[in-house]
Amino acid sequence: MEAKRVLITRDIPEDGIKILHDHGFLIEINKENRPLTAEELNLKAKQADFLICTLADKIDQTFIGQNLHLKLITNFAVGVNNIDVDYALKNNIWIGNTPDILTDATAEIALGLMLVSMRRFKSAHQAILDETFQGFAPKGYLGRTPHHKTLGIIGMGRIGLKMAEMCRDAFKMKVIYTTQNTLYDGFDRVELDELLKQSDVISLHCPLTDKTRNLLSGNKFNLLKSDVTIINTARGEVINQDDLMVFLKNNPQSFAGLDVTSPEPLPKNHPLIKVENVYILPHIGSATVETRGEMSKLCAENILAYGTNKEMNSIMKPHP
Ligand code: DGY
Repeated sequence: MEAKRVLITRDIPEDGIKILHDHGFLIEINKENRPLTAEELNLKAKQADFLICTLADKIDQTFIGQNLHLKLITNFAVGVNNIDVDYALKNNIWIGNTPDILTDATAEIALGLMLVSMRRFKSAHQAILDETFQGFAPKGYLGRTPHHKTLGIIGMGRIGLKMAEMCRDAFKMKVIYTTQNTLYDGFDRVELDELLKQSDVISLHCPLTDKTRNLLSGNKFNLLKSDVTIINTARGEVINQDDLMVFLKNNPQSFAGLDVTSPEPLPKNHPLIKVENVYILPHIGSATVETRGEMSKLCAENILAYGTNKEMNSIMKPHP
């Protein structure tokens, strides 16, 4: 039997690559430190049976339409907003992703951003870099404590729940949330507007869909407390960045900690980078050695499960 071919669009950790090698797959990896262009992706995918891609790869109707021979496309991510999942499934292509294993790592970054934001790490560290720190200052670098404050979780899925539990346990925070799905005992579900009004910290964890694009935009900003902390580890497009910039400028006591922006990376000299009360990370939610290794393995396992009856919550199969 001819060996099956896998195209991997970025240089992912070895863990999954080894599994695929051991199972006799032929593997092509883009070793360059950049995503493939749409043309390159399309050309290389022509030679593949399976695709491991990242959120920078646009797996839209055009791409799928030109690559109907693909058997399974697995994202090296839990979010699948870069893939037209319905269209792929309709065309008999299986879709995979990497849920659960990156929950803790991503919630850690949300928690970290909350502390960095509330305790004003950015300006305090800048004082060290600028050599303006003159020794302990009773009124210097004052932030705010998260203890006993209200945390609003937008999108109470796996990562949102983990963030909620950590903040409740570590800081005795009161947690309120919005969700499309499951209800959680011990936390209060509220409508979005109510969450925006009540929260001292808002942490976004919803997937990017047509419904959540620009969820926080325009008039919604008028509902926020003037000293609110906004954390986004979901997708940049969930917040209208122009509106966010206006809000942050008009409310100097507010702060935004962002692991995601729109686009990624932000263009050089983008005005958001210069806003004082914002702290931006380069999309490192899942970036631990352990988690990225597990993500690589799960992508391989998704491929191995293709064509079997194995039920995995990391795989979506076409309807029979
Ligand atoms: C995801 O998995 O969706 C993250 O945003 C990428 O690590």
